[in-house]
Amino acid sequence: MLNEKLLEILPAPVRKKIEPVAEAIGVLTEVKNPKVLASLAPAGVRGMILQKGKQGGPTKIPARHDALFDWEYPHDQPAMQKLYERAKKLQWNGSTDLDWKIDVDPENPEVPIIPKDFLGIDKIQELGVPMTPKEIQKAQSDTVTWMLSQFLHGEQGALFAAAQVTESVQFFDGKMYGATQVMDEARHVEVFHRYLDTKLNKLYDINDNLFVIIDALMTDSRWDMKFLGMQIMVEGLALGAFGTLYKMTREPLLREMLKRVIQDEARHVHYGVLALREHFTKYLTESERREREDWAFEVAILMRNRFLAYEIYEESFEGVLTRAQWREVINASPGLEIFRREMFRRLVPNLREIGLLSDRIKPHYERVGLMKYFEGKSAKDLDEHTIVTDLSEDPRRAA
Ligand SMILES: [Fe+2]
Ligand SMILES: [Fe+2]
Repeated sequence: MLNEKLLEILPAPVRKKIEPVAEAIGVLTEVKNPKVLASLAPAGVRGMILQKGKQGGPTKIPARHDALFDWEYPHDQPAMQKLYERAKKLQWNGSTDLDWKIDVDPENPEVPIIPKDFLGIDKIQELGVPMTPKEIQKAQSDTVTWMLSQFLHGEQGALFAAAQVTESVQFFDGKMYGATQVMDEARHVEVFHRYLDTKLNKLYDINDNLFVIIDALMTDSRWDMKFLGMQIMVEGLALGAFGTLYKMTREPLLREMLKRVIQDEARHVHYGVLALREHFTKYLTESERREREDWAFEVAILMRNRFLAYEIYEESFEGVLTRAQWREVINASPGLEIFRREMFRRLVPNLREIGLLSDRIKPHYERVGLMKYFEGKSAKDLDEHTIVTDLSEDPRRAA
């Protein structure tokens, strides 16, 4: 991997070309398990080096999975059947159940969209970049727009993954439930897009690391890998991010929208836990289970370390801060710290529940400080109501 010093002495245009490649190599060398590396590397090249998600226009990603038909229509998964009934009852309409008449101004200090210390403006100023109050408001607004743009891109991934898993999962009750999730994800795409398009008037490109995870899941033919990646890891990440923003924002339309999306996601993660627990305990060999356990750990670490909002950096801070300084800002960001905590508080108990936190892997989670979440509530203890009340108010909420 190219070191920072070498990068710093390169002329800016050369550095701009080389840095993403160096970054990609850095990400891939962080993955310690060779099998996991082999499964992520092709997606890593497409996402981080070729930047397939940032070329403008649609991106074609090959999907290879089998569609499994069952002509006997068995009802053998009562818990999934229950979720299907609940999902039918709790559908909502993104156009009429949200008050789109609310006027949103993300730079209005009277209705702060996120708290002032969310991104770490102090740190940017400490690094010698003076910012006017207007520039600070803009940076706050860009941060929310960046987060919501990534939510939107993630929801598109969830929409396609839910459709693929509905085809290939072996539980018929799971297929019926999956159809409701496809509708839920379409609604999430609808509301996030409408908010960005009509209230924030801006959309950021997909983050390279998010692209890599989505690409890897689309191209993997095994439904349970798509599911582990999407329902447990990416949805865990999304719930962490939605929960953080929900707790912190004072903007009423965004708050209501996030609350409703979080309630839908509670069902999705619950279904993920049910389906994977059944599959991992009854259908996989021990070596196949171990492969998933290692994959989940490596992806969790990548998610924790690699969502660095370079898209904001490239737009507003390139040339003023180095990429290494920007990483310092993001790693010290109070908002992102809360986001990481929320994410792992959800994710770790779900991994335990589906059997991917065996004694073999526990020391690795211990080493990175994540075992403290082991005893937490998993998705099966959190329904649409309790998942919202479980988001305790945070003192950092916008004031
Ligand atoms: Fe969603
Ligand atoms: Fe979802």
